[in-house]
Order: sequence, then C-alpha cells, then structure tokens
Amino acid sequence: MKVVSLLGSPRRKGNSSTLADFFTSLLQAKGAEVSTYHLNGLTYKGCQACFACKTRLEHCIGEDDLKPVLQKVADSDLLVLASPVYFGEVSAQLKAFIDRTFSFLRPDYATNKEVKTRLQPGKHLVFILVQGHPKEKLFADIYPRYSYFFNWLGFTHSHLLRVCGPYAKGDIENYPEIFDQAKELANKLLP
Ligand SMILES: Cc1cc2nc3c(=O)[nH]c(=O)nc-3n(C[C@H](O)[C@H](O)[C@H](O)COP(=O)(O)O)c2cc1C
Repeated sequence: MKVVSLLGSPRRKGNSSTLADFFTSLLQAKGAEVSTYHLNGLTYKGCQACFACKTRLEHCIGEDDLKPVLQKVADSDLLVLASPVYFGEVSAQLKAFIDRTFSFLRPDYATNKEVKTRLQPGKHLVFILVQGHPKEKLFADIYPRYSYFFNWLGFTHSHLLRVCGPYAKGDIENYPEIFDQAKELANKLLP
C-alpha cells in the first residue's frame, strides 16, 4: 500500500502531525510505503485558475514544490490529510494544496456524473483534524465538505480522526482515545 501523508500544520511536532505520524508509522510497520510532506516547509501557490489542466494538459501546470507531491498523491492508495482547525477551516497550507487537486478533475467533471476524476478510483482518504475548542458540534462541517469533494477525486473511502480540545503543542498526549482510534483504523485498513 502506498501512503502519502500531508501535514498541514506549521508545527512539525504539533498535535495533528503527531497523530498523523503515529498513524502512518503503524501502517509502515505493516509494510506500507509512506511518504510524508510537511507542507509548511514547501514553497508553492494555490490554484491559479489558469484552466490549463482542463484545456491542454492532463495535470497541473504549476512548477513548484507541489508538483512531485501531486504526482505522489495520484499514485497513492491512501492519502492522509492532517490539519489544525484555523478559523473554522483547515490551515491555509492544506487549503492551497487542496485547491491544486482541481487538476485531478477531468475537463467534463461538472457534467459527467459517472467519472469526474483522472485518478484511479477506490483510494482511501484519512482526514485528521485537531481543534482547540472542546465542543464537537463546532466545526463539524469541515470533514463532510471535503470528503464530498475527495469522493469526486477518486477517494471513495474516507475516514475521520478528529480531536476537539488540544490547544498547546503536545496537548494531544492527553487524549489517549484518539491514538486507540488510530490503531483501530490502521488495523482495519491493513489487517
Ligand atoms: C491561527 C489560529 C486559528 C485557530 N482557529 C481555531 C478555531 O477556529 N477553532 C478552534 O477550535 N481552534 C482554533 N485554533 C487552535 C488550534 O486548532 C489548536 O491549537 C490545535 O491544537 C493546533 O493543532 P496543531 O498543533 O496540529 O497545529 C486556532 C489556532 C491558530 C494558531
């Protein structure tokens, strides 16, 4: 299994990255090939809306650090997207990556009800979200919104690991249940 893990927090050892690394290390121990990218350390822009990927190319025209990342994601079986919640959304670093996945959509994606993606369907998405606010009802809209669009892209199986409450770096260690959930999910995906 090829796994790509994108860390959306600027904190390399922050809460969402710690959980993502824990999860992917379990998959790696079971034989998965894991590629991890700390998005904050890369130089890239969001989608420029040039529509080259819809008119003359099969991929994004962007020539920056996301180019190889997008290729890795296209070739992967499982994508981990890990992010802190910032102003009720994913981080800007992760959002800019997500906008670039527009290039995975076929030119006729808006009207084609059968196949919208250029990617091989049947991929797995694991969304990791950490928010400082302990109320689960708050910001609960993030995951369903993105899993809807990632389904278009071919990530037909999506899974959520979400923690509400950790605020300072390291706080995630006080939420042992989420690590148990991560173990359970890893065992389900790679029995
Ligand atoms: C710019 C910024 C915006 C934030 N916005 C929210 C928010 O809207 N809701 C919330 O619950 N927590 C918010 N937080 C708190 C983070 O979600 C929290 O600190 C989280 O644990 C960070 O995860 P990380 O360590 O993976 O970066 C915000 C933090 C920052 C720095």
